[in-house]
Amino acid sequence: MTVSQAITSRRSMRAFKPDPISRETLLQILRDASYSPSWANSQPWEVFVAEGEALKRIKAGYADCYAKAVRANTDIPRPAEWTEAAKKRQQGLHPDMVRDCGDAVQQFGALNQRMFDAPAVIFLCKDKILSIPWALYDIGAFSQTLMLSALEHGLGTIPAATSIHYPEVLRRELKLPENLEIVIGIAIGYVDETNAINNFRSARSPIEETVRFCD
Ligand SMILES: Cc1cc2nc3c(=O)[nH]c(=O)nc-3n(C[C@H](O)[C@H](O)[C@H](O)COP(=O)(O)O)c2cc1C
Repeated sequence: MTVSQAITSRRSMRAFKPDPISRETLLQILRDASYSPSWANSQPWEVFVAEGEALKRIKAGYADCYAKAVRANTDIPRPAEWTEAAKKRQQGLHPDMVRDCGDAVQQFGALNQRMFDAPAVIFLCKDKILSIPWALYDIGAFSQTLMLSALEHGLGTIPAATSIHYPEVLRRELKLPENLEIVIGIAIGYVDETNAINNFRSARSPIEETVRFCD
């Protein structure tokens, strides 16, 4: 598989088999991710991998919050506003999902709430003193490298804002130090090929629409 093939075949997966991932494989993927570029080689990522009983406790904590309709309150807030172009692309997401997944799309919310039944969720954090956006840029690069390496290891992934909906549950169960804030959770596992939710192929705008060559 070439790098280009890996990049274009990666897709977010939303249903996983329960099979565990070996510690060695997870470490190899995370080691690959650590080769991502970062501001002055600062490597701002702090990684917490939730598996087994810890992940069960996190899911139970989340289920409790959802049952009580607790408002999601992620450490990294959403933008107050989106551009018109971004809004248009976001609006295409649901119809495209219905087109590709049919009735399975009805599981979308429940699968998000259960962290897609993944056997592991990798939570990427950063120190709160890194208040400038560069650390987020670096963690984005780390995420993509991680997801491409996972693909090479036969694993699917999805970065999900829903996985960090309740930071206080994560703080408690992952014993997160106070100085850290949670940037994103990436669910990882062997893909459940039988679930049609994984048929989704998200659209891309023609690259010519966003690239300007200036010579
Ligand atoms: C920061 C971030 C947060 C995301 N949060 C969610 C989420 O909460 N739930 C979900 O189903 N997908 C989530 N996604 C996946 C996006 O919907 C997906 O990446 C996008 O539609 C492009 O599809 P692809 O990853 O299959 O190429 C998230 C992606 C990113 C980068």
